[in-house]
Amino acid sequence: MKLIGLTGGIASGKSTAGKMLAKAGVAVIDADVLARDAVAPGSLGLAAIVARFGPDVLLPEGGLDRKKLGSIVFQNDESRRALNHIVHPEVARLAAARLEELRAKGADVAVYEVPLLFENGLDAAMDGTILIACADDVQLRRTMERDGLQEAAARARVAAQMPLSEKRKRAAVVVENDGSRADLAQALAAAFEQVTGQRLALAP
Ligand SMILES: Nc1ncnc2c1ncn2[C@@H]1O[C@H](COP(=O)(O)OP(=O)(O)O)[C@@H](O)[C@H]1O
Ligand SMILES: [Mg+2]
Repeated sequence: MKLIGLTGGIASGKSTAGKMLAKAGVAVIDADVLARDAVAPGSLGLAAIVARFGPDVLLPEGGLDRKKLGSIVFQNDESRRALNHIVHPEVARLAAARLEELRAKGADVAVYEVPLLFENGLDAAMDGTILIACADDVQLRRTMERDGLQEAAARARVAAQMPLSEKRKRAAVVVENDGSRADLAQALAAAFEQVTGQRLALAP
């Protein structure tokens, strides 16, 4: 089974691309979903977070208060490392289990959608990588619109990440996502064929 890493920057179009592939029947594993599962109510991950950060990071219903935890770890490197140390191994375990399932089913390709593919060195474990990239102004606009952010806040989010210019150097294939969804579907199908040898018809 070929494992393809799908990544990008904030709001560059990773999830849009992942959904197009999934709609065409490709097995797509979303690291953001795994990260949520890793700290779901009743999980070991959530218990470890409460042990480290205290019960204040819980919502009244018992789930994780992501906003509160986010504001703690955003300001403090040591807290952020501690949180990553709890969440990352759990995400890796969930991903491995999901991949095993797909392998057992005989899937020939799996796509792993991971925002921090390069930052976390996961690209080394992939058989190919696809970067969804776009121009800086497009990225900023999509971040502001999707997340309801003012320009300064959106710029700060973008600046906190590895620049797309750096990711472009590391990816096997780059898909430019500055145009329409139909343009993305077409460029993504070409990139998918390049890394897997499989031809797909993708719908926008
Ligand atoms: N080609 C495109 N045309 C129009 N809107 C797009 C396109 N690609 C992405 N978007 C929009 O931009 C925003 C960010 O895309 P998303 O796929 O959520 O990014 P990511 O998962 O990389 O953060 C979303 O609101 C999405 O609908
Ligand atoms: Mg996304």
